[in-house]
Amino acid sequence: MKIQIINGPNLNLLGTREPDIYGNTSFDEYLKKLQSSFPSITLDYYQSNSEGDIVDKLHQTGFDYNGIIINAGAYTHTSLAIADAIASIETPVIEVHVSNVYTREAFRHHSFLARSCVGVIAGFGLESYRLGLEFFTKH
Ligand code: DQA
Repeated sequence: MKIQIINGPNLNLLGTREPDIYGNTSFDEYLKKLQSSFPSITLDYYQSNSEGDIVDKLHQTGFDYNGIIINAGAYTHTSLAIADAIASIETPVIEVHVSNVYTREAFRHHSFLARSCVGVIAGFGLESYRLGLEFFTKH
């Protein structure tokens, strides 16, 4: 099984960025733990701060991977291009967020991506990614 994780803008700063909201752990550190909990899964990780690069990665992986877990960061709330890319591919996509976006500013309550995703996981810290992965291992 091959799963692609895609992180969007500013998520390269996880661990140092607003730690009261996003925690103290870097994504690289978390990814090592995640990979060791799912040794039989090929986990590929991609991070970009650019909308078009995220669209390209969805196109590249969206026809032969078994699942995609995406945290599009602020593009979640703004990007029709990423929403269209998710709607255009065959691989099922789960939207995740580290923070509980529904307890935050109103502009974070709307996702352009969610309607084309299997589901949305938000508010469990970095464990949101693990929950997404568990879904893909069972479906
Ligand atoms: C986020 C929530 C977004 O609103 C924000 O712009 C992010 C991170 C999260 O993981 O909680 O960059 O996607």
